[in-house]
Order: sequence, then structure tokens, then C-alpha cells
Amino acid sequence: MNLLDGKATAAQMKQEIAQSVLEIKNSGKRTPHLAAILVGNDGASETYVNSKEKDCHEVGMSSTVLRFPETITEAELLQEVVKINNNKDIDGLIVQLPLPKHINEQKIIETINPDKDVDGFHPLNVGHMVTGLPTYVSATPDGIMELLARYKVETAGKHCVVIGRSNIVGRPMSNLLSQKANPGDCTVTICHSRTKDLKAFCLQADIIIAALGKAEFLTADMVREGAVVVDVGITRVPAQNKSGFKLLGDVKFDEVAPKCSYITPVPGGVGPMTRVSLLKNTLKAARGLR
Ligand code: GUN
Repeated sequence: MNLLDGKATAAQMKQEIAQSVLEIKNSGKRTPHLAAILVGNDGASETYVNSKEKDCHEVGMSSTVLRFPETITEAELLQEVVKINNNKDIDGLIVQLPLPKHINEQKIIETINPDKDVDGFHPLNVGHMVTGLPTYVSATPDGIMELLARYKVETAGKHCVVIGRSNIVGRPMSNLLSQKANPGDCTVTICHSRTKDLKAFCLQADIIIAALGKAEFLTADMVREGAVVVDVGITRVPAQNKSGFKLLGDVKFDEVAPKCSYITPVPGGVGPMTRVSLLKNTLKAARGLR
């Protein structure tokens, strides 16, 4: 069993990105700059945005976090997005999701300038991704593809089962893995909550991407010998430690790992790769290379 070590790979990539940022600054150009909008007081969203800010500073990028109360109206938030669209000092913008119920998320996403949409959520960027055109690929699928590439995991002709059909992970993942590329060239099956006999599909898989958001869902009896398993899950469960919680993946790691050729751990697998992909997209934005 080989560990797909996202923590170490992301650390390596951060060094590469920091070097590129330095080169941009040394050439006299403006420092790459990511803006994040955070609405309300959701604990997990707050943690994610703080991490993104810390990551930017680690690689020498600028970051601005704009915090707004839960009570902000949709019209006001749209105005804030437009202000950032028009701000020439900002390269990339993310609006942390979920947003309060009275705000139409899709309307906000579609208002972000596609050139600054480093989350890759704008339909124009999704369309580019689906057709294999240059774009910002959303951070989690991009991070997984990068991890597979750097570990030279063989994907061509393999049967990949993606569990989960979210717009952020499952569907882009299934699309990328089916593209004529390396990594890619997979035969992809996308499974979800209405799939009948999920276990039978999993047992046929060379590669499993578990992205359904159910702690320790994938057990050893669902995985065949030699499979590659990528665990996208991060469920917080209460624990007797300093933070009061621990993170569990969608995979029952201890029993699944011995059967795998490659597997990602949680934490330290997909999570750090997701974070570094956002930096990669911000660098692309600064270079004007969507
Ligand atoms: N909420 C959960 N994941 C993400 C993400 O990748 N981007 C944004 N903007 N919000 C999220």
C-alpha cells in the first residue's frame, strides 16, 4: 500500500508557487492578490477562509477577506462582488459557500467575473472544463488530478467509480477522469444516493473517488485488492482533544488501506491539495492565463 501524501505534495507545490510569486514580484509586477467574501458566522466556513488567507501569505500572495453579517441582502452582496470585479488590484475572488438562505448562490456565482473566478464555479468556467478548454478547475477535483499525476498513478483504461454527484466534486471529477488526457482516459461510473447496489459497482472499480460526505462509509468488503482509493470526505465528529472534534473521511481507512495500491489519508490527503489548488488558480489569474 502506498500513501498518496497530500500534505507533502502540497508543501512541495507551495514552494513552487512561492518561487513563481517571487519571480512576478522581481519583474516589477503587482503581487498576486486573492479576495474572499465570508457571510455570517459559520464555524467551518470561518476556518476555511482563515486557512486560505494563511496559505496566501505563506506563498507571498496578498489576501483580503471581506466579512459581512448574515443579514446582508442579496443586492448588497451583488454590489460587493461587482466592486471586486472592477478592482484592478485583485486577481481572484471566492465567495465562501454556503450562503444564507435568502441569497441566491447561483446569482452570486454568475456575477463573479469569470476571469477572477478562481473557484471555477461560474458556468462559463464549468463549460470550459467540460470541453477541455483552458479554465480554472475547481480546487478539489484539480487537487486530486494533480495528486494522481505527481504519483504517476496509471489511469488510462481503468474503471473509475465516483461516489457523489455534487457540482463541486463528484461531477467535475467524473468529467476530468473521462477526458482524453493523463491523468484521464478512464471509464467512469458515477454513483449516488439513488444508485442500486453500490457495492457491486465499487467491487468492479480500479479507482474509487469517495465524495459522498458520509463518515467511514466505504468499507473493506466494498473494495477490490489493488484498488486506488481517494477519500474526499471530511466529517467533523466530537473528540476529547483541544479542538473538541476530529476529522473522519468517507473511507474506513484502517481496514481499506491494506487492500489498496494507493490511498489518501484523512487528514493529510485531499484537503491540503484542495487548498494548494486555489493558490495555483490565483497564480494563473495573476498571469492572465485562465
Ligand atoms: N464551500 C465548501 N467548499 C468550497 C469551495 O471550494 N469554495 C467556496 N467558495 N466555498 C466552499
